[in-house]
Amino acid sequence: MSTPRGLSADRLMRRFHKSVDHLRSEGVTRLLVESESPVGDSIVVDGVRLANFGSCSYLGLGTDPRLVEGAKRALDRFGTSYSSSVAYAAVGLYRSVREKLSAMLDAHVVLAPTTTLAHLAALPTLVRAGDAVLIDSAAHASMQMAVQLLIAGGTSVSQVPHSEIDELKRRVVQLLDDGAKRVWYLADGVYSMQGDVAPAHELSQLLDEHPELWVYYDDAHGFSWRGRHGRGVILDRVPWHPRMVVSVGFAKSFGCAGAAVASLDEDLVDRIELVGAPLTFGGPIPPPILGAADASADIHLSPEHPSLRDELIERISLVNRLITEFDIPSDTTNETPIWFVETGSDRTMIELTLRMKRDGFFMNVATWPAVPPGRSGVRFTVTNSHSISRIEAMLGTLAAHCRALVGTGMTIDLTSDEPVVNLGGAGTSIDVTDEYLDERRRMRS
Ligand SMILES: Cc1ncc(COP(=O)(O)O)c(C=O)c1O
Repeated sequence: MSTPRGLSADRLMRRFHKSVDHLRSEGVTRLLVESESPVGDSIVVDGVRLANFGSCSYLGLGTDPRLVEGAKRALDRFGTSYSSSVAYAAVGLYRSVREKLSAMLDAHVVLAPTTTLAHLAALPTLVRAGDAVLIDSAAHASMQMAVQLLIAGGTSVSQVPHSEIDELKRRVVQLLDDGAKRVWYLADGVYSMQGDVAPAHELSQLLDEHPELWVYYDDAHGFSWRGRHGRGVILDRVPWHPRMVVSVGFAKSFGCAGAAVASLDEDLVDRIELVGAPLTFGGPIPPPILGAADASADIHLSPEHPSLRDELIERISLVNRLITEFDIPSDTTNETPIWFVETGSDRTMIELTLRMKRDGFFMNVATWPAVPPGRSGVRFTVTNSHSISRIEAMLGTLAAHCRALVGTGMTIDLTSDEPVVNLGGAGTSIDVTDEYLDERRRMRS
């Protein structure tokens, strides 16, 4: 999340309102998925079936019958809601999910109803008087929101340029020289718009060099599909460090909703549980969601998980290979299931999204404040629910539209069933397979 400097909160809110209102009127956001086509690799919007390249259910668990069954069992036993703060009492599934999460992450964990609430509970508990906070400029809005509480409480909070480790080192040293007792650095594990990963190795090295530094990660997008038992991108890349806190979200790859904050320090986790305001004064994770989380954790701890994980990793490699082959302007170095095609202007972003939508592919727009002003783009995700041919079809179409929009003069007729999409200019052509054409026919029918 990135905010233009020098604008009042009121002007920012008005600008934000104008922007989202425009996107809604263009038909690229706030779509309603029709109920007869719940989820999976396609959705029906306004009567039209679209291949869904905007879902974060990376392992495809959101529709897994075992999660659905787990939710139903909990629903039958406990009803739709156990209406009490966990400070008083919680259904027994809380303990089961917590123990399983603890086994997945090899750490102590506290559960929260959402990742956003996890940050709001954890950060004011963790950051003490005299500490200073540095937050990555691209860190998710949920953490940017949580640091407002710290600012209100008098903590010095400042942004550091996105993943610039040298600048971060300089600022840590400076804050400590200026008398900060400890410095916290807040970063996403996987950045939700661009799909890039925090420089975990360098950050662990920095933790070793500075005993007063702590790192708090939000690995909502890295959790469940990467690492042993799906422990996430960060814990797959670096071992636990005593001064590292990792929050994970259940609403993406894990297939339900909820979150956990994890650390090696049992007291610290206990403190978040006991005094984190939203965990004490707010409601619990509803029983059906706990039931689904419990079933999802079982899958993550079972011998099945590595094959689910590898299936997604194969798809990520395929997308990266095709992006390079088709010369699509997107980063292929992230090795995460999120890609970003930067268009710069909102106008081109909307045009590209609408062209893809007309051709049967749903993708996400990404504009300010989710990305810096003037750096808008189209973001797409890939999940285990996508067939290989559907991924190929989407990337062939995207390549053609990107070429057309960057002004090569190329236009293509996607309503024709010509077997070759000629990308023109650079002598590149994509041989469109029979599956591609079948896929397009299926989507149009
Ligand atoms: C990196 C990141 N953190 C947190 C959240 C918020 O998650 P939750 O819905 O669990 O609050 C999101 C949601 O999209 C996210 O992308």
